[in-house]
Amino acid sequence: MSDRVKTITMDIVEAVRDVMRKHDVTFAEYRAGVGHLIKTQEAKEIPLLLDVFLNSTVVEIENRQRDGSKAAIQGPYFREGAPRVNDSLAIRPEDEDQPRMVMRGRVTDLGGSPVADAVIDVWHSTPEGRYSGVHGNIPIEYYRGKITTDENGRYECRSILPVPYQIPNQGPTGELLEKHMGGHSWRPAHIHYWVHAEGMRDLISQAYFEGDKYIEDDSCNGGGTEFMVPEAYEDGVRVMEVDFRLDPAAVRA
Ligand code: DHB
Ligand code: FE
Repeated sequence: MSDRVKTITMDIVEAVRDVMRKHDVTFAEYRAGVGHLIKTQEAKEIPLLLDVFLNSTVVEIENRQRDGSKAAIQGPYFREGAPRVNDSLAIRPEDEDQPRMVMRGRVTDLGGSPVADAVIDVWHSTPEGRYSGVHGNIPIEYYRGKITTDENGRYECRSILPVPYQIPNQGPTGELLEKHMGGHSWRPAHIHYWVHAEGMRDLISQAYFEGDKYIEDDSCNGGGTEFMVPEAYEDGVRVMEVDFRLDPAAVRA
């Protein structure tokens, strides 16, 4: 038996009971809630439902224990085994005319010293707001890659621009967000990062594009302007300059 599982489970049940008492929940309302969860399970949307409401809270708790760059939500679309890339992610032939970006920045330790040979997994959406290896049959090598930092801790890699993304909204989770809660299911355009370096604590982050209206109205509470990159261009290419300050890995006793 795990004391922690027992304690947390009891606290969840007590918190839900308190909400039910506060609102005098009726038996019909209780049945409707159970019915909604059954629909969510049948649509295989339990991970989506939990991520929409609770992923950001786990990130918030993790960030209390980090001194360097703050972490952001991972989202469901990271895939292992992305190719190592040099100066550009693979771009689909049909996207050749899309607007471009360059991702660049520095990885350092807490003292500001460069971290060489850090590996940054990056992944982002297509211009239709879909992810390779996940949606339709977009081959997984597109818009994903592992970038390595040089001896000064610098990285640089080009790609096309991602776009605002609408989480699946045709099922029960979309119905809950849009119809019952009067909200929406959009996320700002974003780049995902997962930074790994020897002796350092992993960092999962995101970057948003200044001017995107969903940054502060994000259906997944993705951290807002803290992760926004100011608008800047070089020869018409959007520059996404993002530095990462890594905490040391926890030393195990
Ligand atoms: C979802 C998709 C994302 O790309 C993301 O970053 C977060 C959440 C989603 O579909 O739930
Ligand atoms: Fe995403």
